Amino acid sequence: MNDQTRIISISPFSIAMYDAVYDLWQRCEGVGLSGSDSLQNIAAYLDRNPSMSFVATTGEHLVGAILCGHDGRRGYIHHLAVEENYRCCGIGRRLVERALSALRAEGIQKCHLFIFHKNEPGIRFWQKIGWTFRQDIRVMSTQIVEGNDL
Ligand SMILES: CC(C)(COP(=O)(O)OP(=O)(O)OC[C@H]1O[C@@H](n2cnc3c(N)ncnc32)[C@H](O)[C@@H]1OP(=O)(O)O)[C@@H](O)C(=O)NCCC(=O)NCCS
Repeated sequence: MNDQTRIISISPFSIAMYDAVYDLWQRCEGVGLSGSDSLQNIAAYLDRNPSMSFVATTGEHLVGAILCGHDGRRGYIHHLAVEENYRCCGIGRRLVERALSALRAEGIQKCHLFIFHKNEPGIRFWQKIGWTFRQDIRVMSTQIVEGNDL
């Protein structure tokens, strides 16, 4: 990274950035993608949760993204990702802080996320920034419409 690329801006995730964000997600180990991440579904998610998801850019270049929303009582973060060459410079932390402030501004007091057991670097990141595991909860799911998208 040179000095120029150190200038990172955080701005709302607009659906116009979908292709670049999806490309980043695909390149990031630890981000689990499915049919629910289609252009149409992400557009619907951003419409339901305006100005809660963010991208990090340097110039025109996307280097990070976070999806965040709430259901009226709890917040949820999905698919936090930072381009490999830009990691450990505080971008992930900044994206999380922006998402949490957006939730706070909506009166949401707690936020959850899902992370793969095997994503040990990701777990270390979340723990470093103060997140803790729930010991009393496991995630359960069901398929509402037939398909392979659980
Ligand atoms: C997890 C991820 C988003 C972190 O982004 P990042 O921009 O590198 O994180 P930051 O630089 O803001 O890190 C914040 C702190 O956590 C530390 N940290 C980051 N990754 C870490 C890791 N793997 N292990 C230990 N500490 C880590 C940083 O050193 C920093 O500590 P500091 O405040 O003492 O300097 C990034 O590594 C990534 O995109 N991983 C792949 C996708 C992924 O797993 N996402 C999470 C899915 S839930």
